[in-house]
Amino acid sequence: MKLSRNFYRPLALGAPAPIRETPVRVERMIHFVPPHIEKMRAKLPELVRSVDVVLGNLEDAIPADDKLAARQGFIHMARNTDFGAAGLWTRINALNSPWALDDIVEIVAAVGDRLDVIMLPKVEGPWDIHYIDQLLAQLEARHRLSRPIQVHAILETAEGVMNVEAIAGASPRLHGMSLGPADLAASRGMKTTRVGGGHPDYVVLADGSAGTERHRFQQDLWHYTIGRMVDACLAHGLKPFYGPFGDFSDPQACESQFRNAFLQGCLGAWSLHPTQIEIAKRVFSPDPQEVAFARRILDAMPDGSGAVMIDGKMQDDATWKQAKVIVDLARLIAARDEKFKLLYDL
Ligand code: GLV
Ligand code: MG
Repeated sequence: MKLSRNFYRPLALGAPAPIRETPVRVERMIHFVPPHIEKMRAKLPELVRSVDVVLGNLEDAIPADDKLAARQGFIHMARNTDFGAAGLWTRINALNSPWALDDIVEIVAAVGDRLDVIMLPKVEGPWDIHYIDQLLAQLEARHRLSRPIQVHAILETAEGVMNVEAIAGASPRLHGMSLGPADLAASRGMKTTRVGGGHPDYVVLADGSAGTERHRFQQDLWHYTIGRMVDACLAHGLKPFYGPFGDFSDPQACESQFRNAFLQGCLGAWSLHPTQIEIAKRVFSPDPQEVAFARRILDAMPDGSGAVMIDGKMQDDATWKQAKVIVDLARLIAARDEKFKLLYDL
């Protein structure tokens, strides 16, 4: 195991010092763009004003024959777009693919100074993070980058879920993690054909006697994995995200899946379709009524200790901390998004 005193040392001579705290940024949605399609790149100047993060996707959904064009398209969009307040990420191909090495080497050489985060798919264990960590440090030194490029892991294999805590603690370069429900379902042998969301047959049947109508309660297939991911991330100071929701014809189910993840601790989700941008904004910005109530708790307990009653509900040091999570997030979003600044009255 690495000595603790070496954990924050640069991994290559001349590489920038690792980040100690994940930068505080609003990242309610990571919006996926296929960079090889010129028509999509042309929409970027408008898109960047409405999203928190733009991600150029090089991995799944990009046909094998278009992989090189996607990489070049990403370099082109990174060079020629003013991203303003939006973050710039890319999802590279998996480390065991024929494209990953050149994805990393070419992109860091060309636009490493503009790139915030590399999303790494199919992370199986801490060894994957150690590999990219070392390689990025060498490239950062070679190209004289002044700030480290962060890495965001996709949790989408059975082995990755088994090792989630070790992955989360593998490097100070980690930004966070996203659930990848499609690959994870396949890797685990789940019997679904959906990209995230529920399944009508994953239910609990209420008690009742034969012949009477029994209530069926659909359960959340992803609850267990999100719970493990959130604990691993928060324990290590990383940011957890729900990933993709593939049924664009069902915005209600998308909203509900995003909201479950938000309530469980996630800070954002992927948007694969323009309609999901607004859903993510609505869900991952705390509810204005909840923010107003949380502010009353903070106001009632200025030093964060003791016990008070508000509207018949007991408040103490622990609810003060809960309220602070919500108000801190609301303040962050208010500083980034005028609409929510007004809604929160902040
Ligand atoms: C995302 O990459 C997924 O597999 O769900
Ligand atoms: Mg995947």
